[in-house]
Amino acid sequence: MTDSTQNTPNTDLAAAAADNKAWSGRFSEPVSELVKRYTASVFFDQRMAEQDIRGSLAHAAMLAKQGIITPQDLADIQRGMAQILGEIRADSFVWSLDAEDVHLNIERRLTTLVGDAGKRLHTGRSRNDQVATDIRLWLRDAIDQILILIGDFQRSILTLAEAHAATPMPGHTHLQVAQPVTFGHHLMAYFEMTLRDAERFRDVRQRTNRLPLGAAALAGTSFPIDREYVARELGFEGVCENSLDAVSDRDFAIEFCAAVAITMTHLSRLSEELILWMSPRFGFIDLADRFCTGSSIMPQKKNPDVPELVRGKTGRVNGHLVALLTLMKGQPLAYNKDNQEDKEPLFDAADTLIDTLRIYADMILGIRVKADAMRAALAQGFATATDLADYLVKKGLPFRDAHEAVALAVRAAEMRGCDLADFTLDELRAAMCHVSGAGERLAGDIASVLTIEGSLAARDHIGGTAPAQVRAAIARARQRLA
Ligand code: ARG
Repeated sequence: MTDSTQNTPNTDLAAAAADNKAWSGRFSEPVSELVKRYTASVFFDQRMAEQDIRGSLAHAAMLAKQGIITPQDLADIQRGMAQILGEIRADSFVWSLDAEDVHLNIERRLTTLVGDAGKRLHTGRSRNDQVATDIRLWLRDAIDQILILIGDFQRSILTLAEAHAATPMPGHTHLQVAQPVTFGHHLMAYFEMTLRDAERFRDVRQRTNRLPLGAAALAGTSFPIDREYVARELGFEGVCENSLDAVSDRDFAIEFCAAVAITMTHLSRLSEELILWMSPRFGFIDLADRFCTGSSIMPQKKNPDVPELVRGKTGRVNGHLVALLTLMKGQPLAYNKDNQEDKEPLFDAADTLIDTLRIYADMILGIRVKADAMRAALAQGFATATDLADYLVKKGLPFRDAHEAVALAVRAAEMRGCDLADFTLDELRAAMCHVSGAGERLAGDIASVLTIEGSLAARDHIGGTAPAQVRAAIARARQRLA
């Protein structure tokens, strides 16, 4: 409404507004259309409708059990809610901006359907504890879904890692070739990361899974409620112990967004690697066509759009975490309308991770590994230099001397444009001649040390890249997943 409404007598306005608003008897004029849209949340919080109904049914059952409403009221509420649920699922429920949010939309429809019983539902309850309950129920469902999807992602990683437990590739530090690792070993790093991610989500779930209902607006209620009963009905592990805290804090949402941001960060790192590996400069892998797109101008292009978007969307999810932290930092106790802003970041963070995990589980299985290119890259970076130094140390040379001797050998190889393994024993000795005690420690057994397979096999301990260890790690991982 616009300013023209100011001409209408206040009493009419109050009566008209009372038709629409739960609190309007107190007000002498309705809010403007702009303010109505500005303050409404119905267009994004309606996705908590099923949780809202679940919460209301548990609350109503408790009110009836405690003799606060009659069994007939409860039956009416249950009948009305069943119909509303059907309408929402059939997409025939009419959401109204006038009713502001999901809670008032459902309550209003209930009252239309069942009359006074609908008006009694809100006894001993406030939207403040109602919304806090709905979000927790919603988040619990989202976490359960995320945990299943992390498992799917991990199973895909294990399948590819198993196939490449012994496939050598250059391991990098500073994006320079460092030492040989197997592709399977590299992939298993992401298994470990996401295992911790899953742990984090389970942890968040525990703290999320507490019941705010009963806190009412902020101080509790004068009705003889049974909060433990409602908690059990809704599958909560307990009740929030302080009513002010119950309605006002959103730390569980912040924690959730942090867990999402960390998981997305892991997936973003993997994405960055897939993008690099798919570049012809690396040429280590090819992604299945269904995850790539072409260019509208360059006919030859096949771009890794999906991993690029994962990397990009990680920024947006990190933003949601910061948004929620910032949302909370200045709020005095207890509930403030600021809290309504918690939902969109939360929903989008969950949606983004859920879609990303779904896509990733499939994308991993569509990776074609170019093992020859990985091996060729290894031949270029003196990846077995550390093995040569370790060899000299095992023959009694102090490590710092061995390091220097091998550095000289690498320099000589670089000048000649060959690999360390291409030197004869005498050439290698000559290259190290400035480090006393180095050359004479070299013997014929050096050849196997300088091979990639020798280097891999030597790292034969828990957490090492020896193919046998990678296979053992995969076997343990399958146990940990089961
Ligand atoms: N839509 C509101 C929210 O999301 C519900 C709670 C509103 N409570 C209030 N007293 N205005 O937070």
